[in-house]
Amino acid sequence: MKVCVVGTGYVGLTTGVSLAFLGHEVTCVDLDQEKVDMLRGGRCPIYEPGMEELLAEAAPNLTFTTSYAEGVPGADVVFVAVQTPSAPDGSPDLRYLRSAAESVAQSLDHDFTVVVNKSTVPIGSGNWVDAILRDSFATRADRAQDQDARPCEFSVASNPEFLREGNAIHDTLFPDRIVIGSDNPRALEVLNHLYRPLINQTFTPPTFQPRPDDTTAVPLVSTDLASAELIKYAANAFLALKISYVNEIGQLAGKVGADITEVARGIGLDQRIGSRFLEPGVGWGGSCFGKDTKALIATASEYKYDMPIVQAARDVNQRQREIAVERLQSELRILKGRKIGLLGVAFKPNTDDLRDSPALDIAQLLVARGARVKLHDPIAGDRFRREYPEMAPHLSDTLDGVFDDCDAVVLVTKWAQYLELDWGKFVGLMRTPIVLDGRNVLDQDRMERLGFRYLSMAG
Ligand code: UGA
Repeated sequence: MKVCVVGTGYVGLTTGVSLAFLGHEVTCVDLDQEKVDMLRGGRCPIYEPGMEELLAEAAPNLTFTTSYAEGVPGADVVFVAVQTPSAPDGSPDLRYLRSAAESVAQSLDHDFTVVVNKSTVPIGSGNWVDAILRDSFATRADRAQDQDARPCEFSVASNPEFLREGNAIHDTLFPDRIVIGSDNPRALEVLNHLYRPLINQTFTPPTFQPRPDDTTAVPLVSTDLASAELIKYAANAFLALKISYVNEIGQLAGKVGADITEVARGIGLDQRIGSRFLEPGVGWGGSCFGKDTKALIATASEYKYDMPIVQAARDVNQRQREIAVERLQSELRILKGRKIGLLGVAFKPNTDDLRDSPALDIAQLLVARGARVKLHDPIAGDRFRREYPEMAPHLSDTLDGVFDDCDAVVLVTKWAQYLELDWGKFVGLMRTPIVLDGRNVLDQDRMERLGFRYLSMAG
């Protein structure tokens, strides 16, 4: 099938490259010439494991362009995957989505095109995009003048994305489910056809990403537009609250003398609960959970409806960041003038994404209390310098620069490099060898044997 993808961020790029890999003919449109040039050269503008390899394998079916007129005409499906940043009131800013929809409408030229909202958009946005497309299409000079123009129909659908950054290719090729939503059965039929190779798992996986043993067929949830839109928000909010729940229990565990690792294992083995997303620590960050929980609450408030559970998940998450600082303060007593090292700036491992990263908040809270902060990240350093130039002096390219004369280090991001670190090499460099395990992943006995004073988030 012929596919156009508008926007080459995490979601758009992964969608485009994966569909091309599956054999569809894909054109990715992005207005950023620099990004398009990079992608044409086979280089990936974001850090995502395996993406450049997949890009190379899919290259014969892939075109990158800045022009809608090159991608949209003749497409069976147009995915709109542009950014929807949070506006100050928590609702997503839909400016980019509007302008993308208008541009798509100006180029539509096929007997039937499905326009898919791939960006996470508030419930009801499908109808909104549909109205923009129709208004913009109706004003097209070429069609208004040409009474005999060939039929050109289109319909809006929602196809939410469930991929995790850092695992984007795995999650796209071997998803737990595919959700498609539209009020037009013909649109659902087209998407069903598009995703057949994924649903039936008939494709040969890339060598670097073998099919998991338990993946056979992928369930398809085919539903109305509003339900598909809500599924995305409800799924992310549920995962966010699962993490906040284990963090809340973790704090109580610390107070009553229980071991949160054992508690999480004990509850996670109940298959009704499940063990994933029950890892305690400094909490969630990233572009999705914070934004989506906020947007869900904002949508509900339009209907004069409160969502106290979702709000509590947000509050607990924020509190974890503050607790990290308090743990250090109660240990060191005085934070002023202390040197604190933060290991990890990215919001999670295998990405250089810094959005809503716990490390940034923790660093700022520490600086506000007079501490000297040194940050380290194996991958996200360059991006940090670019995006937070005012904080760049706090970055250290070497681990020695972090540990040297340090009063405490906090493991903030679960990078493999930190888990495999030869910690014994660094203990002697520190002024006081205190380590706060912000991801609950270090072996306390081992750290203590090495001479560290080990602190957990649970107290
Ligand atoms: C999340 C969802 O997991 C995806 O399904 C969804 O498609 C995506 O948002 C999106 O809406 O685009 P992502 O934000 O990339 O994916 O990252 P996650 O792997 O979900 O991690 C989010 C945060 O939770 C990270 O900061 C991670 O460190 C933290 N986390 C995760 C925990 O603190 N504990 C856990 O047990 C799991």
